[in-house]
Amino acid sequence: MKELKIEIGIRAFRYEELEELDRKLIDAAKEATNRSYAPYSHFSVGAAALLANGTIVTGSNQENAAYPSGTCAERTTLFYANSQYPDQPVMTLAIAARSESGYLESPIPPCGACRQVLLETEQRYQQPMRILLYSLNDIYVIEGTKDLLPLSFGKDFLETK
Ligand code: THU
Repeated sequence: MKELKIEIGIRAFRYEELEELDRKLIDAAKEATNRSYAPYSHFSVGAAALLANGTIVTGSNQENAAYPSGTCAERTTLFYANSQYPDQPVMTLAIAARSESGYLESPIPPCGACRQVLLETEQRYQQPMRILLYSLNDIYVIEGTKDLLPLSFGKDFLETK
């Protein structure tokens, strides 16, 4: 028997400690929560993607009475970015969430399905995508999906003979 351990790396910052561009992206993700459509969960999530050409694209969760038909903020944002700017790698994705009582005390990590989409976006553009998870206290800075979705299934496995 062998025991394998996978380590992931996350750095936690205060808002004031972040670089200006990261703060701008966090602000855009927070603002995007105002455009969330969440009549069922009352949980508003916003995301902001910084593209290589400097464009910032935002999105939010969009729910549906048929619950599984709704989408998370991360997927709304990445699919929009990838469909509008197919040649632009996504450099950084900021995510913010609030409940009816306001922003949360600790960062909200993306759901499993969104992690898989983040991974695909990274692999498509062949470069790590930074992920910023906002909260009132710590803001987690994650340098790529290797630290968000370890032991991942990606397109490389489909190419093995
Ligand atoms: N949600 C997101 O938008 N992103 C996440 O990473 C977690 C969950 C949304 C989906 C649903 O509209 C609401 O939050 C409650 O799960």
